[in-house]
Amino acid sequence: IMTGEPVNVNEFRELARQALPKMYYDFYTGGAEDQYTLKENEEAFRRIIIQPIILRNVRSIDLSTTVLGYNISMPVMIAPTSLQKLANPEGEIATARAASACNTIMVLSTSSTYSLEEVAACCDAIRFFQLYVYKRRDISAKLVQRAENNGYKAIVLTVDSPRLGRREADVKNKLVVPPLKNLEGLLPTKFVSDEKGSGLAALASGTLDASFCWEFDTVLRLQNCWCEPRLHEDITWLKSITNLPILIKGVLTREDAIKALEVGVDGMIVSNHGGRQLDYSPATISVLEEVVDAVGGKVPVLVDGGIRRGTDIFKAMALGAQAVLVGRAVVYGLAAKGEKGVNRVLEMLKEELELTMALSGCCSVKEISRSHVRTKHDQQL
Ligand code: FNR
Repeated sequence: IMTGEPVNVNEFRELARQALPKMYYDFYTGGAEDQYTLKENEEAFRRIIIQPIILRNVRSIDLSTTVLGYNISMPVMIAPTSLQKLANPEGEIATARAASACNTIMVLSTSSTYSLEEVAACCDAIRFFQLYVYKRRDISAKLVQRAENNGYKAIVLTVDSPRLGRREADVKNKLVVPPLKNLEGLLPTKFVSDEKGSGLAALASGTLDASFCWEFDTVLRLQNCWCEPRLHEDITWLKSITNLPILIKGVLTREDAIKALEVGVDGMIVSNHGGRQLDYSPATISVLEEVVDAVGGKVPVLVDGGIRRGTDIFKAMALGAQAVLVGRAVVYGLAAKGEKGVNRVLEMLKEELELTMALSGCCSVKEISRSHVRTKHDQQL
C-alpha cells in the first residue's frame, strides 16, 4: 500500500487504479490479447544496461532539444491517447496545459473528448495532431484542414491500426465510448454503444479504412496489375492535402522505415501502440536501433512504449531516438491528480533523466551516445 505523495510513475499508476472505475482503468492500462508486447515494452528496457562515464564535470545539465525545429525543454513529448475525459473531466485540456507549463509538445488524438479547436484555444502548447484514416476519406481530409487552421504543427499518421487490436478487458467490460468531439456531426454515433463488446472496437470496425497504404502505384506495380491507381488511398494523397510535416507512427522494421523514407515522410515514430494492437510485435526499444540505422539521420526517429523512468528515456536517446513519447504515464497522472498530476509526471521524468545524465557523465542530450548503453547485441555481454 502506497502512502504519501507518489515518487515515481508506477506509484501514479497505482493512484490511477484507485481513482478510476475498473472499466476505465482497464482501458488505459491494458493491451491486446496475451499482452506479451505490453509487458515486453517495459521488460526490454530492463535488459539494457547503462555504462556511465565517470569524472566529468556535470554541474549543469541541459535537457533541451528540438523536434521538427521546435524547441522543447526535454526530449519527452506527450503521445496521443484517446478518451482522456474518462480519466478526468478536464481531459485533453488539462494535458495540453501541462504540456505548455513543461514546455513540451502534445500530440492530440483524433479520438479526443475535447475538440481539436477547444484544445487549441485553451493554451499555447505546441501541438501535433494524430490522424486515423477513415473509410470516409473526406472526414480525414477535414480533420487535417481543421488541425492546420488551428495551429497544429504536424500530422502524426498512425499506421498500426487498419483494424483495432483485440483488448479483451474492454470486450469483457463492454467499454462505453464517450462522444468523440472531433468527429461530431461527421460520424454516425450509433457505433458508439455496442452491447456485444468493446464500444471502441465497434466504432473502429465501422469507420477505419483498412485499405490505406504506402503508394498505390507501387503496390499495383508489385502485384503486376495495371489498373488505375486509386489516388485517395495512399500517403501521397495525404501529402497532397496538407503543408504540415507528416510523421508516421507505428514503424517497427528496417524495411518499413526505408519505405517511409521513399514516400517522403518528415519523421517516424517507432511504436507498437503501447502493446494495444498487434500482440507479439517486438518491444519498441528492441527495434529502435534497427530503424535508426535504416533512416541514417535523414529524418528524426522518435520512440514510444513502456517509458516509465528517466533511465528509459536515456536508453532510448543512446540508441538514437531524437525524443520519446509517453502515453500511459501521462494518463496515470491525469487520472490521479488532473492537470497537476500530468505536470508532476512530466517533471518527474525530467528530474530522473537529469539525474541519470549527471550520473552517466552527460551534460546535454547530444552527449548521450551509443557507448552509454549495452544491449544483448553488444559483444561485451
Ligand atoms: C493509446 N495510443 C494511441 N495512439 C494513437 O495513435 N491514437 C490514439 O488515439 C491512441 N489512443 C491510446 C489510448 C490509450 C489509453 C493508450 C494507453 C494508448 C498509443 C499511444 O499513442 C502510444 O503509442 C502508447 O501509449 C505508448 O506506450 P506507453 O507509453 O503507454 O507505454
